[in-house]
Amino acid sequence: MGYGAEPVEPQILTPYASTTMRIIDTHAHLFDEAFADDVDDVVRRARENHVEKVFLPNIDESTLPAMLSLCEAAPDFFYPMLGLHPTEVREDYAEVLARMEKLLEEPHPYIGIGEVGLDYYWDRTYYKEQQDAFCRQVEWSLASGLPLMIHSRSAQKELVDLLAAYRSRGVRGVFHSFCGTPEEARELLSFEGFMIGVNGVLTFKKSALPGVLPYIPPERLVVETDAPYLAPVPFRGKRNESAYVFHTLAKAAEVYGMPVEKLAGQTSENALKLFVRAV
Ligand code: NI
Repeated sequence: MGYGAEPVEPQILTPYASTTMRIIDTHAHLFDEAFADDVDDVVRRARENHVEKVFLPNIDESTLPAMLSLCEAAPDFFYPMLGLHPTEVREDYAEVLARMEKLLEEPHPYIGIGEVGLDYYWDRTYYKEQQDAFCRQVEWSLASGLPLMIHSRSAQKELVDLLAAYRSRGVRGVFHSFCGTPEEARELLSFEGFMIGVNGVLTFKKSALPGVLPYIPPERLVVETDAPYLAPVPFRGKRNESAYVFHTLAKAAEVYGMPVEKLAGQTSENALKLFVRAV
């Protein structure tokens, strides 16, 4: 998929040999075929770079076997979610969701409902269907108590309008890959059960996100890679992987003027407050 032919061997990224730093990559698709040949190395590098857990949001039915096999191999490291990604919503979404919902019967391994949401950036063909699929999966979240992992692209208004109907029912989750304005951050933060997820975009040279981050309190922040996409600087344009999450965390710590270890602890605590089945 064109992430660069040479896999990059990340150096140990921290300036000191920390034994206490614990980072959670709250959003990575390490079951993607981009990792089919070297996922063991990807896991090793993540652990070497202080990543102690990786949350895996699902894409569609076809990605479930690969995701679950990673989790079976490393149950104290990988944690799966169940959901239908908005870009995979088609005419048959109701049947797909009916089959997926059965997988939520206990006992099941899922820690959250994701990745769900609205994406009107590339394609608005299934405008209404995406909204219905989203609402059905919000209902799963409320019924199961599992938090949402929400994807929203060119859809903030529609998303906020839909979610507002669930505000009084204690809806909870993460707004992942945030890169909006201070006003959009404020609007999302008004949903009290939610954290905001930031990734490598924070490190990009022309990113506006460092100017917006101060509007998001550290108590409401989680960090993620969204691997294989959006690799942070200095790996921008390469295949992203969980070991690189440190670069996003370090940039956030710099913006907040906080020690990176402290922010690692805070964001991990935030993630586990929501995703209690990953504790
Ligand atoms: Ni994603």
